[in-house]
Amino acid sequence: MPPKFSVVILAAGKATRFKSEHTKVLHGLAGRPLGEYVLASALAARPSEAWMVIGHEAESVRRAFDRPGLQFIEQNEQLGTGHALMVARPAIEQSHSTAVVVLVGDVPLLRPETLTGLVKAHEKAKAAATILTTRVENPGGYGRVVRSAGNRVRAIVEEKLCTAAQRKIREINSGIICFSRSKLLDHLSDLTLKNAQREYLLTDLIQIFHSLRLKVIAYPVEDFREVLGVNDRVELAQVERILRVRKCEALMRAGVTLVNPEITRIDQDVEVGRDSVIEPGVSLLGRTRVGKDCVVQSWSIITDSILGDRVTVKPFSVVTGSEMANDSIAGPFAHLRDGAVVAEEARIGNFVEVKKSRIGRGTKSLHLTYIGDATLGERVNIGAGTVTCNYDGEKKHPTVIEDGVFIGSGTMLVAPVRIGKGSYVAAGSTITEDVPPDSLGVGRARQSNKEGWVKERAKSKEKE
Ligand code: UD1
Ligand code: MG
Repeated sequence: MPPKFSVVILAAGKATRFKSEHTKVLHGLAGRPLGEYVLASALAARPSEAWMVIGHEAESVRRAFDRPGLQFIEQNEQLGTGHALMVARPAIEQSHSTAVVVLVGDVPLLRPETLTGLVKAHEKAKAAATILTTRVENPGGYGRVVRSAGNRVRAIVEEKLCTAAQRKIREINSGIICFSRSKLLDHLSDLTLKNAQREYLLTDLIQIFHSLRLKVIAYPVEDFREVLGVNDRVELAQVERILRVRKCEALMRAGVTLVNPEITRIDQDVEVGRDSVIEPGVSLLGRTRVGKDCVVQSWSIITDSILGDRVTVKPFSVVTGSEMANDSIAGPFAHLRDGAVVAEEARIGNFVEVKKSRIGRGTKSLHLTYIGDATLGERVNIGAGTVTCNYDGEKKHPTVIEDGVFIGSGTMLVAPVRIGKGSYVAAGSTITEDVPPDSLGVGRARQSNKEGWVKERAKSKEKE
């Protein structure tokens, strides 16, 4: 039977080194909030209870991470990682688990298997505490692991408190420690503010345990990247790069062509179907789903959107919160946003913006056009330079263009307005009234030609 353990995720801090006004756990990392990673790994390891200690921007953190099986504990004043545990004490006292794993919110690459391995090693050794450690080339910023005889650990010394010799130690504390629940509760109140950092340092418990001859061991992870902490923006970029490389490799192994993965940005939750080709410089962000046999060409940015199968997005297009059905085409330089839906085989061309509108099957709008708050039927043709004038300065109004309509170039459609099935609108029209089905709508001044005007003008100039 797997051991019973609880997890406490520390996420109340203000992210001083991150130089931010906002809590670090809500900063974006490859399309998810930073804190989401450790939380997902913790829950995947199936703890009997999971708590998150929150403080800075508590309400937003609660909203972002709220889910079954997770309880929030508020630490209103952040007096250190040890203090965070003191605040969580009543919850820990209620628990029936034998072990409590303390996790930090800023270690996103941790795998659930490592967490389970840590707890098993801890139970097997009957330790009072087991520290997840690793060896790094540059240990700057981390707490150093000071070992005593055998596998035992004597202390974790925080960077600021290290002696010159300790600073050279390459084995570091990942910030993740598995405690015996009873030993943790016995000694939590032994922590004091009497250290150079003037904080209740959870890591001071290690020295306290050691002096009481309680067993403290280290559980090293092979790959240091798994416990990389994100303490500043440089580390954020390093971790982001690791996640992106992994994501690109996973997609390529699953049958997606990435022409130049080094300059392709694909968020963690994005899905791409087989035989699709993603060209250099493309960004696929948020919850975007791309179907099979699609081509997304260079420098297009697709966010929170759904593309069917055999869809083509030509270069420099921006697609946000929109849908493109099978065999549809957009771009180059197309802009679909805010709930644009492009049906099968429809085509949206260059410098065409579609907002909150439905474009019917086989409909084409290929040049220099704005379509907003509109519903277009099937096989409609929209001439170059057409505008749905949807905004009267106060409210937005709808435009309806029924099946088979032909809108001549340079038409202004002043909404609310409806163009009936099969009708034509003459080029250059300003349409302010509905056009019935099978009709021609003309809304422009009649042209008049003044013959000989140029010569007459020249003559009158001579007289002057
Ligand atoms: C911590 C460890 C350090 C380890 C490093 C690994 C301690 C004292 N130090 O240092 O040994 O090498 O992680 O990344 O544990 N937090 C609270 N309440 C507080 C203070 C902090 O919830 O009062 C939270 C923070 O939001 C953060 C986590 O605890 O998620 C760790 O705090 P941080 O300031 O990042 O500690 P480090 O200096 O990185
Ligand atoms: Mg940290």
